[in-house]
Amino acid sequence: MKDIFKANGEIRVKNGVLQLSDAPDIVTDGDGDKYIGYEEIGEAYSGNAKHLIDEGSALTAEYIAEVTKDGLFLDLGCGDGAVTVPCARLGVRVIAGDISNKMMEILKERAKRNGISLESVTLCRMNALDIPLRDESVDTVVANSVLHLISNPEKVLREIYRVLKPGGRFVCRDDAPDMDRPGAEGFAEENEEYMKTVGEIYEGYWAELGKRGVTAKRYSWRFDRDAACRAMFGSVETKRIERGVPYFNRLVDSFLPRFAGKGFSDQVDVPADLHREVCDRVVGEVREKYGEKFDAVGYHGIEPDMIITSYVK
Ligand SMILES: C[S@@+](CC[C@H](N)C(=O)[O-])C[C@H]1O[C@@H](n2cnc3c(N)ncnc32)[C@H](O)[C@@H]1O
Repeated sequence: MKDIFKANGEIRVKNGVLQLSDAPDIVTDGDGDKYIGYEEIGEAYSGNAKHLIDEGSALTAEYIAEVTKDGLFLDLGCGDGAVTVPCARLGVRVIAGDISNKMMEILKERAKRNGISLESVTLCRMNALDIPLRDESVDTVVANSVLHLISNPEKVLREIYRVLKPGGRFVCRDDAPDMDRPGAEGFAEENEEYMKTVGEIYEGYWAELGKRGVTAKRYSWRFDRDAACRAMFGSVETKRIERGVPYFNRLVDSFLPRFAGKGFSDQVDVPADLHREVCDRVVGEVREKYGEKFDAVGYHGIEPDMIITSYVK
């Protein structure tokens, strides 16, 4: 296994994580490539979900196990282990890499709470812009919800291509576009209320911060991954996975704690005290406007089918 790493000599290990990069956790200024690592976002991002293995990730893991077989899977920007942990349950050999040591601590906690051994997983602090693996060393790569955080996603794709073996797959998961969402027609009015409430909080917050000269950090939210990958990879395979599981997210249990905890990546450069002041005020105003309804409002939906796309080298 050791010969897949670019590093020569001893590799430093911190809390069981190979330290394969000295790059900062977050880079949001300067002339070079920028990215938003989740070191300070961790707990608020993962929230109550850190002990769950969600159905979508479990299905993605089954697909990864099927195509990777006894090969090696790189979960790039593995974060809190949403994909790594169900892969570990299936015995997939995983290189789980993230720029944030904190996120990999949460990953370990997720595995522990679900009684899943990480024996088949090698945790590595790494920078996706300079993957510390040798050329053609892995069979499958996933970089779920990562490219949009990086100012130069093309460079990350070139790195992914480089480390994949010939015939290897870059696997991406998307929602099926033709699914009628939310799909729970009876809840249209309540869902509209939820969307309106979230919108008022989000817009009110950023409007106030804008007046104070602070803007949301969004690097590659509009990056056309599919076009870039089709131009780079030899062939493309897609698979539709049916879902249809109903869910209900209460605003005060899901959006609000993450938002108030600065758990959204575009909040990364908002100074903590300014965030608290503006967030408390805006949320307070919206809460007052909606009264008791505020605590009950939530979103009823049906999980859309997933489209798994494999870009094959
Ligand atoms: C939104 S989370 C997604 C985590 C996980 N892939 C998932 O699907 O839940 C994005 C992750 O990308 C990591 N990240 C951001 N920039 C990175 C970089 N340059 N190199 C490695 N990881 C990075 C963050 O630290 C964070 O854990």
